[in-house]
Amino acid sequence: MFDIWNRRYTGSKYKLSSWISNLIAENCKGSSFCDIFAGTGIISYTMLEKMKKIYINDFLYSNEVIYKAFFDQSTYDKDRIANYCSHFQALSAAQIGDNYISENFGNKFFSYADAKKIGYIREVIETDRINLSEKEFAILLASLLYATDKSANTVGHYDAYIKGHNIPDTFSFDLITPYKSKKSQIYISREESNKFAKTLKCDIIYIDPPYNSRQYSRFYHVLENITCWRKPRLHGVALKPDPENMSDYCRNKAKDVFRDLIDSLDCKYIVVSYNNTYKSKSSSSKNKMTLKDIEAALFTRGDVQRFETSHNFFNAGKTDFNDHKELIFIVKVK
Ligand SMILES: C[S@@+](CC[C@H](N)C(=O)[O-])C[C@H]1O[C@@H](n2cnc3c(N)ncnc32)[C@H](O)[C@@H]1O
Repeated sequence: MFDIWNRRYTGSKYKLSSWISNLIAENCKGSSFCDIFAGTGIISYTMLEKMKKIYINDFLYSNEVIYKAFFDQSTYDKDRIANYCSHFQALSAAQIGDNYISENFGNKFFSYADAKKIGYIREVIETDRINLSEKEFAILLASLLYATDKSANTVGHYDAYIKGHNIPDTFSFDLITPYKSKKSQIYISREESNKFAKTLKCDIIYIDPPYNSRQYSRFYHVLENITCWRKPRLHGVALKPDPENMSDYCRNKAKDVFRDLIDSLDCKYIVVSYNNTYKSKSSSSKNKMTLKDIEAALFTRGDVQRFETSHNFFNAGKTDFNDHKELIFIVKVK
């Protein structure tokens, strides 16, 4: 069974999640929480049962289906899910024909046999969608995404695949573990953050945007492609589709959109994650916003507290992370 943190995701706060949730518990009061750039959803997970309302938002399709699978509280038919799981686990690649995934990604992002299985399973989930509830569809698809990610021939994202070796067959279908919540009502959305913020009223808002030029929709294009299943034509060595969901937070206007976001928040506390990778040597991982930009925006909303810890994180070997620090700002809004 997969738990929500059993995936590789750039900038995941999994290892920092206790530190962050303790800071929120010690410094913020409220009964509603929003994770507006939720990524893996791990910070929302730590708020389960602590908050009456939890809003989980990210603009990626794959993240939305993962949140529905883990957090949506609708009932579902466990036997039906178990039957699909047994069928998917018993598949033999030799009996499966070529498909969109094997033709595009076989012997690249996955072994050829694994790619055939992934494409076949996705097609079954799509064909049977009409007979599945939304929750059942989400559980099966999110499970496929987790199993797919585990077998990917990458360093953790899909900007490139690893070349020059025979890719072993490692794909193994398994189910995600849906989480039950008695106390929290959970609201899942797939909106552009600044647009979403303008419709939101919430006690505590957690903000963890991308801070460099690496677009998440491009990093996770294979998972987005499998989720949407529009089977687009793909381009380049990394076989990416046409761009979609390109974030302004990865562009030079990042500090303006951040300021706009902070200005529009209707809440009691703003909690912001930041790390000091701006010293990085590679330009794609250089931060688009400085600490000064962040602080200047936050000071306009109230009293700011700053907390820090050191943390080794995803760096692809190019970042000088000897003095890598993770920061949390908490603003008590005036
Ligand atoms: C640093 S990651 C968040 C990591 C998350 N806190 C975790 O622990 O997994 C930033 C997230 O923001 C999302 N994102 C980037 N720009 C966005 C935008 N304009 N609107 C909504 N989501 C956005 C990305 O898809 C990515 O998942």
